[in-house]
Amino acid sequence: MTTTKAVVVYPEEKQVAVIDVAIPEIRDEWILVKVLAVALNPTDWKHIDYEQADVGCRIGCDYAGVVEKVGSKVTRFKKGDRITGFAHGGNRLNRESGAFGEYALVKQCVQMNIPDNLSFEQAATLGVGTVTCGQGLYKSLGLPLPTEPAKTPFPVLIYGGSTATGVLGIQFVKASGLTAIATASPANFEYLRSIGADAVFDYRSPTCGADIKAFTQNTLKFAWDCAGGGEEICAAALSDSERSAYGAINIGNIDGEILKKKNPLVDGPLITVGYDAIGEGWVWDGQVAPPKADEMDFATKFMEMARKLIENETIKPIKTTLNQGGAGLNGVIKGLDELRAGRVSCTKLVYTL
Ligand SMILES: NC(=O)c1ccc[n+]([C@@H]2O[C@H](COP(=O)([O-])OP(=O)(O)OC[C@H]3O[C@@H](n4cnc5c(N)ncnc54)[C@H](OP(=O)(O)O)[C@@H]3O)[C@@H](O)[C@H]2O)c1
Repeated sequence: MTTTKAVVVYPEEKQVAVIDVAIPEIRDEWILVKVLAVALNPTDWKHIDYEQADVGCRIGCDYAGVVEKVGSKVTRFKKGDRITGFAHGGNRLNRESGAFGEYALVKQCVQMNIPDNLSFEQAATLGVGTVTCGQGLYKSLGLPLPTEPAKTPFPVLIYGGSTATGVLGIQFVKASGLTAIATASPANFEYLRSIGADAVFDYRSPTCGADIKAFTQNTLKFAWDCAGGGEEICAAALSDSERSAYGAINIGNIDGEILKKKNPLVDGPLITVGYDAIGEGWVWDGQVAPPKADEMDFATKFMEMARKLIENETIKPIKTTLNQGGAGLNGVIKGLDELRAGRVSCTKLVYTL
């Protein structure tokens, strides 16, 4: 057996370690990648701390690297391609499916070829965020796709605009010909304006929701919460004279009751989960989510559309913070602590291997 290094859940409570593991065997629709850079997501530490991953599960969702081998049903990638995308790290049903390793096994539907204008470090920030924008903004909320942008702009609120997801979300909203309104800490206002936000509001202000409602003249019909906990502000910001929709991505931190109480005309929470886009079953808190072919088909098309927008620089990757705490897989473990402690603002922690 040929071994390689990966960040794996270790038999001590809430621990991960860099250990030797087998290089995964190739599967029909999957790609074996030599990983060159990885980026961190809150879900990485949540799988560990909330005990959603078993001992032996590889961790990590975002990566960039070079294709080493492709399965018999892989049509869009070949050996030697520069590739980035999404892996289901911490997956109880497929323990070798994690991005934080020298080699990663990823399914073709949620990957893209890296445009020539991006480094591996920049590309590593894109996988989870792109898939999530596709599901949340387009498949779930039904906004016009960038390939068929709105003829007349209407406002969309990206609550948590400075999250890694929100930074991409703002740019997709603009690419769709819409007006992007965001919330963030004031320190991040300038950056969010520089990537296209038309207006930014401080979510800590007690009048945040009312201020957005006034700015949009009571016409806001779409809010997308990328941070979680934005129900009250979004409900206050959304129209109180027309039906509207509230989308969210933070599985464990959304209270639908608050939403309805504050604004009965809001539909939601409309929650999406990135793992569905892989088209495989998965488990969270003992609940089994079945494979969803429609999610996988949508993601396959969306990744290709997004790649073109990234290539022509309509969508730019978020600012990266490189090798904070040290490079490589051991640095990743330090970075997880930074993310866990909430010390990451408007950037993505990236580690080179
Ligand atoms: N369902 C899915 O498929 C999916 C996919 C991706 C992420 N997620 C989840 O979505 C959340 C965001 O992930 P991420 O990687 O995009 O985030 P991230 O980049 O780690 O988020 C950091 C940002 O959160 C902002 N923030 C913290 N508390 C906030 C609040 N109360 N209101 C508004 N903004 C707040 C901070 O903004 P300031 O510094 O400006 O204050 C900071 O910039 C996480 O819970 C993650 O697990 C879910």
